[in-house]
Amino acid sequence: MKYQTAEPFRIKMIEHVKKTTISERQTWLKEAGYNVFKVKAENVYIDCLTDSGTSAMSKNQWAALMMGDESYASCDSFFRLEKSVHEVFDMPFVQPVHQGRAADYLIAKIYCKPGQIAIGNMHFDTFRGNAEVLGAKVADLVIQAGKDASSAPEDFKGNMDIQACEDFILKNGPENIGLIMMTVTCNNNGGQPVSMKNIRETAALAQKYNIPFTMDIARIAENAYFIKTREAEFKHASISSIIRQTLSYCETAVMSAKKDGLVNIGGLFLTRKQDIFTMANQLAIVHEGFITYGGLAGRDLDALAVGLREVCDFDYLEYRIKQVEYLGNKLKEAGIPIIEPTGGHGVYVDARRFFTHIPQNEFPAQRLVVALYELSGIRCVELGACAFGTTDPVTGESHWPELETMRIAISRRVYTNNHMDCIANALKDIYLNRASYKGLKLTYEGPIQSLRHFTAGFELI
Ligand code: F0G
Repeated sequence: MKYQTAEPFRIKMIEHVKKTTISERQTWLKEAGYNVFKVKAENVYIDCLTDSGTSAMSKNQWAALMMGDESYASCDSFFRLEKSVHEVFDMPFVQPVHQGRAADYLIAKIYCKPGQIAIGNMHFDTFRGNAEVLGAKVADLVIQAGKDASSAPEDFKGNMDIQACEDFILKNGPENIGLIMMTVTCNNNGGQPVSMKNIRETAALAQKYNIPFTMDIARIAENAYFIKTREAEFKHASISSIIRQTLSYCETAVMSAKKDGLVNIGGLFLTRKQDIFTMANQLAIVHEGFITYGGLAGRDLDALAVGLREVCDFDYLEYRIKQVEYLGNKLKEAGIPIIEPTGGHGVYVDARRFFTHIPQNEFPAQRLVVALYELSGIRCVELGACAFGTTDPVTGESHWPELETMRIAISRRVYTNNHMDCIANALKDIYLNRASYKGLKLTYEGPIQSLRHFTAGFELI
């Protein structure tokens, strides 16, 4: 193995990328209102906006696509997907959906009545948005170290704060809690993992108060890798057995298959309860498509059936997590502040410590996103004052989040370590000149606060 440390795949097909100039990028940034969601992908050199739906599929997945059966009802593709889900997740009931947020809608609608609260370690925006639209509330109760981008390295910064969770339940009354949801890995604070111990303790707490325990498993294989390599009990366990055990504690799980499903589109709503499944089926028929295709083509179901099995491969996961760590180490060597240790799907730069002179109401993380695209054509995403900040509709008062980061999301099986070097080199130069940057002024925000980063507009100060 000593000499077999490169990417565990051969590149069989390529997508050309365009090189562009700084002055072109300055024009495009201005046109986009300094929001890189609005910059055309063809004008991006390395796209680290997201790791979602951006994976390269394997030859087995492409072959499976050709097997896709496009029948409206009870297509063969569904049964192949169902078999794969039974094998990989050991969950009996499977409702496919077109992507993760559709599953977020189903779970929020089924479990959270208006006024009820959904507790999470840290909910992802799309669950939060769905809950908000449905009149429910959310609470993030991740451990303290997970809320602070400058905290000392810890193995499982995605863990739920068990004590805070119990206090919260008692304070608000168990009958007012719609569900507890554990997101693995925890996307919003660095792709940080959750330990099996913490999953067990949270599930036990949920059971004690008769609250449904659920999971968001978009990155469950990456989480399983961290459990295997950091939690002594699982040192010799297979990734598949860790995944199955992780899920054994929850009654319902939602998955954006665009991450650890290794596909470009798709999602899953999984449950152990017949009555919950029946409700999910009914809602899916209204919103997604018939029960057995859920808004996807048969070929998408087949590609996912294969992707779910492939993602359990330890060699793949080791390459994946180590690539993210490689980039993190390059940034650390240059003194650039990041969330440590690096997590599963990206490196999160701590913009508070990067641009110490830019106050949070001038969007330091977004400023870094803009600076990086301007200098290098590399696109990342802000997870800070814009994504998580809110303005009170009554008082007009602003609330600023604890985390102020720029996420460099790494696509699966897409980029090489040469690309990682380019990202590190560009960021190093910005870091050296950091004092010369000024902040941004927010000029537009959409009506749903938890989604404002997708469409916000800015001006340079
Ligand atoms: N849950 C988590 C933890 C996610 O990270 C995402 C998407 C979703 C649910 C929603 O899934 O996009 O398939 O509808 N995250 C992407 C990201 C968008 O960039 O982190 P979706």
